[in-house]
Amino acid sequence: MSDKIETTGHLWDENLAELTNQPPGWWMLGLYSSLAFMIIYAILYPTIPLVTTYTKGIMGWTAVKEYKQDLASLDEIRSKYEAQLPSKSVAEILADEDLSQYVVRSAKVLFGDNCAACHGTGGAGNPSYPVLVDDDWLYGGAIDIIHQSITNGRKPMMPRMGMAGQELTEAEVDTLANTIHNGTVVSEPLYTSKGCVGCHTPQGTGMQAIGSADLTDKIWRFAAEDQLDGIKYTINHGVNDPSDPKTRNAEMPKFGGTKLSDTDIKKLAVYVHKLGGGQ
Ligand code: HEC
Ligand code: HEC
Repeated sequence: MSDKIETTGHLWDENLAELTNQPPGWWMLGLYSSLAFMIIYAILYPTIPLVTTYTKGIMGWTAVKEYKQDLASLDEIRSKYEAQLPSKSVAEILADEDLSQYVVRSAKVLFGDNCAACHGTGGAGNPSYPVLVDDDWLYGGAIDIIHQSITNGRKPMMPRMGMAGQELTEAEVDTLANTIHNGTVVSEPLYTSKGCVGCHTPQGTGMQAIGSADLTDKIWRFAAEDQLDGIKYTINHGVNDPSDPKTRNAEMPKFGGTKLSDTDIKKLAVYVHKLGGGQ
């Protein structure tokens, strides 16, 4: 640099001087434009607090107004879809890509409020409640079956078969439990002779009409820390057997009628179907 810039005369540490030159042009531009922005903003929008009120700005903007406008446009989008739901069957809703996407979004909260307490967040399951995200179904993963499960509820029944005075001796319960545990129950003669076959089918895979579990897939409806003991317990005490106070309780409550509207149930059926296991 040829011409020397003036200093303020202060010198720190013997060689650190303060110069008097102007800040660079880009910096001044930034300063003036932010000043201009402040002034324009203050004219347009609510800005300066006064003693009991504040400057309102000429745009008439308020946060509440903006919120209401957003809500109104959301309602408009929603009502376009909501209007179609009452007259459509669950299968029709499912077949409509656009509509079912809307339904899944709006059913998330419904599921959280009504179902997650038992079935876990997002249907991932809880101990002794079925998982809804896999393709293992007690009653079936077809959309109409899921719709029925939610509308009418489910209350399966298996009589207690073991313990004093019942069908099976303790040794027989052990035998059956062990073969169920290792997945070979259908080759066990007791399975047929003691009547398990009538509800669990000759293949052991269960009947979806009555929700009798598959005894060959090693997916446990009643998971237990010691699974062998858990199986024995089910055989001994049955499921929802009113004659045994220690019976397993398994009831899916009925949501049709007064608990949820028909439309909400349709939404939930589509939501559950789309969780991943729908058939
Ligand atoms: C009080 C607990 C509870 C609540 C709340 C509940 N469920 Fe269930 N649900 C169950 C039980 C228990 C079963 C299994 C019944 C059985 O063992 O046969 C079940 C079964 C089901 C099934 C059948 C699963 C299959 O494998 O076929 C579906 C679908 C289902 N529930 C959906 C829902 C939806 C959707 C909601 C919310 C609207 C809901 N459930 C709320 C307890 C509950
Ligand atoms: C009247 C019909 C019926 C008969 C008879 C019956 N079961 Fe069941 N069983 C069921 C139903 C229904 C379920 C599923 C309950 C549910 O969905 O929560 C079940 C569930 C089970 C389970 C639990 C499976 C799991 O995944 O946790 C076992 C184990 C079992 N049964 C074994 C037997 C054996 C062994 C016999 C014969 C000694 C037998 N059952 C006879 C209806 C029956």
